[in-house]
Amino acid sequence: MKRILVVDPEHDSRLTSTALLRQGGYEVHDIPDESGAFQLLHDYSYDLIITDLSRPQCECDSAVLKWIQENAPQTAVIILTSHGSIDCVVKTIQMGATDYILKPGSDDEFLKKVEGAIQKTSKHHSIPSRKEPYRIHDIVGISRSMERIIEMALKISHIGSNVLIYGESGTGKELVAKAIHYHGRTEDERPFVAINSAAIPDHILESELFGYAKGAFTGAVRDKKGLLEEANGGTLFLDEIGDASPQFQSKLLRVIEEQKMRRVGDTRARKINVRFIAATNKNIVSMVSEGTFRADLYYRLGIVEISIPPLKNRKEDIYPLITHFLHDISKRLGKKIKGISDETVQVLLAYDWPGNVRELKNSIERAVALSGNKTLEPEDFPIINSAYHDSLFSGHEDEVIPLKEIEKRYLLKIMKKYSYNQKLVAKKLGIGYTTLWRKLKEIENDM
Ligand SMILES: Nc1ncnc2c1ncn2[C@@H]1O[C@H](COP(=O)(O)OP(=O)(O)OP(=O)(O)O)[C@@H](O)[C@H]1O
Ligand SMILES: [Mg+2]
Repeated sequence: MKRILVVDPEHDSRLTSTALLRQGGYEVHDIPDESGAFQLLHDYSYDLIITDLSRPQCECDSAVLKWIQENAPQTAVIILTSHGSIDCVVKTIQMGATDYILKPGSDDEFLKKVEGAIQKTSKHHSIPSRKEPYRIHDIVGISRSMERIIEMALKISHIGSNVLIYGESGTGKELVAKAIHYHGRTEDERPFVAINSAAIPDHILESELFGYAKGAFTGAVRDKKGLLEEANGGTLFLDEIGDASPQFQSKLLRVIEEQKMRRVGDTRARKINVRFIAATNKNIVSMVSEGTFRADLYYRLGIVEISIPPLKNRKEDIYPLITHFLHDISKRLGKKIKGISDETVQVLLAYDWPGNVRELKNSIERAVALSGNKTLEPEDFPIINSAYHDSLFSGHEDEVIPLKEIEKRYLLKIMKKYSYNQKLVAKKLGIGYTTLWRKLKEIENDM
């Protein structure tokens, strides 16, 4: 199945395009902004990207388009634009966009352009799908908790139990789900279909999940498989299950219980064999006791539960992850980065990583892309580095730091900033050179 990514900040128009494309038989991912799109571009390959440039502030400049040109030239790009600025269209086509679509347009026109763009590129290139088997060991981690997760994933990869994965955003829930599904198999062997449980509006829920028969409603011009049938024989990954609507929850429960479903407008019930892997950053157990999540569904999904701790609670994993991403990313971006200095590792280890592994990966990508150094230095991580230096002064709220200690920390920080040039530091601090020298001597004697 051809895979399309829709990037459109306008909620309604994004949902409309997405639904239309799904009905047209495509696998669709959608995201409101380009920065989110990059994440997806790293994790998936697409046959087509549809990106919206209607916002005036975009100034016909698409970072996604540039990225595609450099990293995935086999992917077609369609630009969506609403005020039809011809200059803009011309510019993006010159930059390599495959086609453009003016909004609002007719559904037929939209699908025709999509089909055309995909054909145009697939004539010239075929996307190599990943042929080597996936390995659970793509999950990097040496902490006891990650070792347990990897062990568990291995154990259940070949039995079809449903799995419920907990973890904060960016901890690797989808990665673990894929590892369970793909372990020892190639990408083509059986389907892995990922859906965002919160993003399918209730009124199209049935036709999305179950598909429909020709003539089931106006617009149903041919039979159409739903997501469950697409995932048949494989895995349906239910992302953000904690945000699923009550309707979604009850439909899902029925399918899991009966292992059967019926296309909308069809009389025939079809047997399906699907493994469900659900993921959430919510506490489902307390949602069950509050009555916002169905207990019966929770029991069906959470046959096996896996909980991925936040990165700050498994700091041993940070270094292996750094080297893993450094290797991967410098290869992909074609940059010759030799490594990372010990001091930088120190700074990265001290950080809290609220965005978890995703934040670490993105920080390294940014550092590799922008750094002029052969070895990554703290300055290549400006935000994290300044948080590190601020924390030297904050300590615990009720902790009283002796002035002498504050002076020492401050002096060391400034010395480093000016490359240990004592004359310059004395001048910057407005003290005499000998005074500075004496203070530094004292610090040295203390250490
Ligand atoms: N242990 C790991 N080893 C290697 N890469 C990892 C690991 N954990 C996460 N990643 C990478 O970090 C990124 C985020 O992971 P993933 O998308 O699986 O997180 P998530 O928990 O699904 O996040 P969200 O809740 O925001 O959807 C991905 O690019 C993934 O490949
Ligand atoms: Mg995810």
